[in-house]
Amino acid sequence: MNEPITRAKDLAYVRMQAPDLEVGEKFIEDFGLIISDRTPDTIYARGTDTAHHIYILHKGEPGFRNLAFHMHSLDDLEKLHEKAGATPVERLDEPGGGYAVRLTDPHGFIVEAIFGMEELDPIDPGVAIPLNIDGQRNRVGRFADIKRGASTVRRIGHAVLESTRIEEAYLWYWKHFGILRTDKVVQPSGADAMQFARLDKGLEYTDHHTIGFQLCIDGTERLQHVSFEVQNFDDVMIGHDHLHTDKAYKPVWGVGRHRLGGQIYDYWKDPWGRIHEHWADSDLLNTEYEATVQAIDGGRDYWGDQQNPPVKYAIQKWNLTTVSNIAQMVSGALRAKVLKR
Ligand SMILES: [Fe+2]
Repeated sequence: MNEPITRAKDLAYVRMQAPDLEVGEKFIEDFGLIISDRTPDTIYARGTDTAHHIYILHKGEPGFRNLAFHMHSLDDLEKLHEKAGATPVERLDEPGGGYAVRLTDPHGFIVEAIFGMEELDPIDPGVAIPLNIDGQRNRVGRFADIKRGASTVRRIGHAVLESTRIEEAYLWYWKHFGILRTDKVVQPSGADAMQFARLDKGLEYTDHHTIGFQLCIDGTERLQHVSFEVQNFDDVMIGHDHLHTDKAYKPVWGVGRHRLGGQIYDYWKDPWGRIHEHWADSDLLNTEYEATVQAIDGGRDYWGDQQNPPVKYAIQKWNLTTVSNIAQMVSGALRAKVLKR
């Protein structure tokens, strides 16, 4: 098969669960999402862009429920139903409305394909201050005057899944949603460590990755992190300051600039340990970009406090599988070093 069944338009939202919606709402606001609607057991949050919501928090056991893609048309939903065994097209009976079908990915996660979500008026976040940069004096006679407080999330950017079957997962998302491989990161043994994949928008430029698949070190497949674009570099930094200094959350990883993706990143955990990322200034690619294969030890981030992922980011749980996988990676890396000599 040379053609995917559909090409997703964008990532739409993630559905998360938390046992205490009051605590969850506090994190949502501290993180810089904006509540757009609620029902007695669910909170809907948006960014400054027009989507009715980009993040859903249901009351329930802590966990990740599923992700969703915006599709181009109702016809795309019909195709997924007819050709891929997705559920029949149904109206979404919740705030924001629209239509949905549901599929199950190779990990067993439900993936919603939606169309027709309500659009809201955009929220004006203000404009970034002009930067005195590259010797050019763009801000003269005025102060930086940056407001303190939470970041202001613009939109959902990407989701990364921890997977024990990275290639199978990538191929499934390609087949159903036309997701294109951007970079593949391999261990010294040649086994997959990570794959980044992006939307197929033809010659239109799109984020370096909208979905990623990361080797699941402890053997449990889960959402590794969900990521949101904020307004600019200053907005990443004031959000960091707000979460850390004003609200006493513990930083997970960042601030730094990724080598793969190029974005300035900052990772945080919600009160239930799920990783949420702020970023600004991603690399943008189109279909002219050819997928690459990169060595896992091939290069660090451009800059940052810790230029490789810290343990609290990379390892969610310690068990025998974690120890065995780490031992294999370390011995593979040592073997590769010896062979290079
Ligand atoms: Fe990310």
